[in-house]
Amino acid sequence: MIAIRPVVPGDAEAVAALRREGRDYLAPWEPDRGEASYTAAGVRETIAASLERAAAGTGFSYSITDDDRVVGGIALNTVVRGPYFRSCSFGYWVARSEAGRGVATEAVRLAKAVAFGELGLLRVQAETLPHNTASQKVLARNGFEPIGLAPAYLKIAGKWQDHLLFQVLNPAMD
Ligand SMILES: CC(C)(COP(=O)(O)OP(=O)(O)OC[C@H]1O[C@@H](n2cnc3c(N)ncnc32)[C@H](O)[C@@H]1OP(=O)(O)O)[C@@H](O)C(=O)NCCC(=O)NCCS
Repeated sequence: MIAIRPVVPGDAEAVAALRREGRDYLAPWEPDRGEASYTAAGVRETIAASLERAAAGTGFSYSITDDDRVVGGIALNTVVRGPYFRSCSFGYWVARSEAGRGVATEAVRLAKAVAFGELGLLRVQAETLPHNTASQKVLARNGFEPIGLAPAYLKIAGKWQDHLLFQVLNPAMD
């Protein structure tokens, strides 16, 4: 069964192994974080930084699991819980060997429940490269709607690239 749970330092080895196995598959769609991001030590540092963001309430990173086996990750980034803006941005990946069987669709559904439930957010944003059809399908299946094209929005694979922005609103929003 697909589930999400907060990332822990002990996930570093599994995540690094999946990232090495799927390096060519992941690299075109994510920031270039260098060689360290394919090693357990490097991933451990990334996890430590994400735990600091969680303690500060500004971001929450989850491992995606299938029957307790790590198969990917999903993060609620840039969490703002203010009086006039309550939003976060999703980022996610799934191991190459696990792709195409609904893992990301289910993980986004579960992360949306966290965002709109325990975090009380009113809006979730996600951004994709214009040709990332797989990611756009995942978002559409979770009620995200396109809201525009943001020029040079994120530095992906070493280049500042245009992104399509999507959002979904909390149905309980008044
Ligand atoms: C995008 C990603 C998270 C999707 O994960 P996933 O678990 O395979 O997603 P799902 O199985 O829930 O759905 C993906 C859908 O896209 C389809 N798809 C996969 N590759 C595709 C492609 N190249 N072109 C068109 N559709 C594609 C799948 O067939 C599936 O649709 P279907 O169920 O109608 O067949 C995964 O491919 C990934 O990690 N990619 C690299 C990192 C990335 O792009 N992250 C998102 C950044 S915005």
